[in-house]
Amino acid sequence: MNDFFQKGWDSQNIEDNYWSILGFASEQDFKTASIRKLKRLQNIGFNFNSNLLDVGCGTGTIPYSIFNDMKGKYYGCDISEKGVEYCMRKYQKDNFTFFVNEQTNIGIIDGTQFDFICFYSVFTHCYEDEIIAILKQCKGYLKPDGKIMADFFIGKYDGDNRYISGLSQESFDKIIQESGLELQILSNKPFQDNIQRILTTLSL
Ligand SMILES: C[S@@+](CC[C@H](N)C(=O)[O-])C[C@H]1O[C@@H](n2cnc3c(N)ncnc32)[C@H](O)[C@@H]1O
Repeated sequence: MNDFFQKGWDSQNIEDNYWSILGFASEQDFKTASIRKLKRLQNIGFNFNSNLLDVGCGTGTIPYSIFNDMKGKYYGCDISEKGVEYCMRKYQKDNFTFFVNEQTNIGIIDGTQFDFICFYSVFTHCYEDEIIAILKQCKGYLKPDGKIMADFFIGKYDGDNRYISGLSQESFDKIIQESGLELQILSNKPFQDNIQRILTTLSL
């Protein structure tokens, strides 16, 4: 795991406070964000029969809001063993699978194909070459009409680029071109000075 997330996960007692590591100020904020993120998926066609791959599942933002109703297959992965172990204990169901992935390798080998793959607040902490490598792999996991949902920071950030990975417009364009995916921008909002957060779908 990269140093930024290693330090973050090591510094948190997620048994008492499972929401802080993901940047939420309170449990209520985590729950509100969970419902908002589910609605965004539903807006692009997700339903509870879909197969969903949730990369960077953390401590379960998406599982929290889909657990009771989900009928399709849910796969959640994260670079954090601690996060994955936590989700495995909290969200136990036959159609729920959690596993640890590597920074640039998701590594699904059972042939499951997904209707949706989501990267919520994940590429916002990854570098250009990492994003390209991951997106290329995702093409092999998507059903022909499947969709990836991902957000990105565009703009220049002067601090730790793992905290806020601000991509230049050229870099973002290169990611889309090299991944060979079709881009749709769903929203584009100011995040902070000189940084925009864009929410996208990517399809084959
Ligand atoms: C800001 S949190 C977002 C968690 C969750 N997706 C959400 O929206 O609430 C970022 C998560 O992505 C994970 N992560 C960062 N880079 C990753 C990568 N390359 N592959 C998988 N998970 C990653 C981190 O460990 C962390 O759990």
